[in-house]
Amino acid sequence: MIYLGYFLFLFCGLTRVMASYPIWWSLAVGHQYTSLGTQPILCSSIPGLVPKQLRFCRNYVEIMPSVAEGVKIGIQECQHQFRGRRWNCTTINDSLAIFGPVLDKATRESAFVHAIASAGVAFAVTRACSEGSATICGCDTRRKGPPGEGWKWGGCSEDVEFGSMVSREFADARENRPDARSAMNRHNNEAGRVSITDHMYLKCKCHGLSGSCEVKTCWWSQPDFRVIGDYMKDKYDSASEMVVEKHRESRGWVETLRPKYTFFKPPTETDLVYYESSPNFCEPNPETGSFGTRDRICNLTSHGIDGCDLLCCGRGHNTRTEKRKEKCHCIFHWCCYVSCQECTRVYDVHTCK
Ligand SMILES: *[C@@H]1O[C@H](CO)[C@@H](O)[C@H](O)[C@H]1NC(C)=O
Ligand SMILES: *[C@@H]1O[C@H](CO)[C@@H](O)[C@H](O)[C@H]1NC(C)=O
Ligand SMILES: *[C@@H]1O[C@H](CO)[C@@H](O)[C@H](O)[C@H]1NC(C)=O
Repeated sequence: MIYLGYFLFLFCGLTRVMASYPIWWSLAVGHQYTSLGTQPILCSSIPGLVPKQLRFCRNYVEIMPSVAEGVKIGIQECQHQFRGRRWNCTTINDSLAIFGPVLDKATRESAFVHAIASAGVAFAVTRACSEGSATICGCDTRRKGPPGEGWKWGGCSEDVEFGSMVSREFADARENRPDARSAMNRHNNEAGRVSITDHMYLKCKCHGLSGSCEVKTCWWSQPDFRVIGDYMKDKYDSASEMVVEKHRESRGWVETLRPKYTFFKPPTETDLVYYESSPNFCEPNPETGSFGTRDRICNLTSHGIDGCDLLCCGRGHNTRTEKRKEKCHCIFHWCCYVSCQECTRVYDVHTCK
């Protein structure tokens, strides 16, 4: 009985962790997967997959490295967009819940990470397909219309619909509960994917003698992922706060979301939604997953969130000087090399108290 009790306790602990955000995201950071691409992925060894995801993994195992790669570029973009902020999208190595408890709550931060990770999966799978590294997908041949003024169709139009389908089937597979958090995750995941479709553009290449543009061929291309990151960051800043409503339906209680403020425009499918407020991330708190901002580098001249006032939450900052070696007095020699001297420059570095 004691063993059974312990087992149940463990089991409940695990499901609690799994209920908040996807454990399989650990594919993107886990050291056991650093050789992604060179080793076959063992679907049963990926933590936290629901049965539908496991089936998907087994059926489409050749695109699983791209799925993992997609979460990785999503997280890298998150860390870039939040680099100067109190919460900076830090992941932790020694837990399958790679963001710690931070994303357990239905905050703006959770909204952003879900959207950027699901966009990342769609993006990476689409890219892999157009590069020919998967056999079940390829270029998009349906979107070719009539050629334009001075150009014709050529190259490989990226099939963003296939990439989005993979992201929808795989990343949303566990978001089918009738609760508010599932509804929020589904919405934000879709917002991430739609942002890619909305930013597809016609990319062209010139052909002709010595760079002349006699013949131009064009194809549909995904934008640089940074474009998606910048766009989603704007959506984070203007995210819509929702409230949870409970309805009784034939299948039981169902939670849905409705905008909290009726005088704002209701969110569209490209907007991010959340319904719980964020902690201020000023002090370390293992319960909320905040690391606090002590020892973080701040910008003395900025009045923004990366400035010492806001980043340090009014606690003040320390200043130290740092010497850095840099190249200087560079001279161009005919022809063709550059020689430089090495200079030492002194910088002030400010860190939060
Ligand atoms: C986390 O894992 C990565 C990859 O193995 C490693 O480079 C990094 O140093 C680790 N970070 C910490 C804080 O352990
Ligand atoms: C992000 O925050 C963590 C925790 O405060 C800190 O250790 C890390 O250096 C920060 N990363 C960047 C890029 O500022
Ligand atoms: C600090 O902030 C100022 C003003 O916003 C900006 O011009 C400068 O590039 C920032 N410095 C760093 C190191 O980010």
